[in-house]
Amino acid sequence: MTHSLKFWAVVPAAGVGKRMNADRPKQYLQLNDKTVIEHTLMRLLSANVFTAVAVAISEEDPYWPELAIATHEKVITAAGGKERADSVLSALKAIRTLASDDDWVLVHDAARPCITTTDIKHLIETLKNDEVGGILALSSHDTLKSVQGDCIVDTLDRSFIWRALTPQMFRYGLLKTALEEAEGNPAITDEASALELKGLKPKIVEGRPDNIKITRPEDLALAQFYMEHQND
Ligand code: C5P
Repeated sequence: MTHSLKFWAVVPAAGVGKRMNADRPKQYLQLNDKTVIEHTLMRLLSANVFTAVAVAISEEDPYWPELAIATHEKVITAAGGKERADSVLSALKAIRTLASDDDWVLVHDAARPCITTTDIKHLIETLKNDEVGGILALSSHDTLKSVQGDCIVDTLDRSFIWRALTPQMFRYGLLKTALEEAEGNPAITDEASALELKGLKPKIVEGRPDNIKITRPEDLALAQFYMEHQND
């Protein structure tokens, strides 16, 4: 029997988002007519490529059960973890009986509500025959400085520097093993870094600059602006 490859989305959404200085985690702040996480999940679902979306939610989170999308037939809720990598691993474990080792997983931050179907499909089309997988990334337009204290000590060659975005796309089995092996390592701030630690070389795929991560209060207005001007 031939196995048809599936695509899964994993959304870490168990962070607090301290830099927003808000009364609730940033994924529950209002952006136009919906919360940030509702935009993110609806955009992933409307790309029409995922078998299911596994969302990692903090156990003390009172907001998630209030959202209608929490009971969507394609949404699976998993427990959040201490760090982002723990949340991703927990979501992967929640789909362990459904996913095959060679299925693709696209991990996407709950705090990136402006993700487009164009970017999701571009990532998938570029990497679906790749051995390792890779991530959406952006080159830097600014000159980059290495700094000690408040003094510049070096100017970096920016042709080597890319900013890691999400989704990050890897095979289920490889990603789960890499995250398990890297457990507790503070250097693992995204999925690609767990694979790099195994000596693998994930690819970069140039993404759109409107796929911003809500981090600071002003990012909400910027996300609103992008949403009003996106038409794909
Ligand atoms: O804090 P930061 O913006 O880097 O978080 C990126 C994503 O990881 C967010 O969607 C956040 O909710 C999630 N996260 C998580 N579990 C943690 C920390 C962050 O799911 N322990």
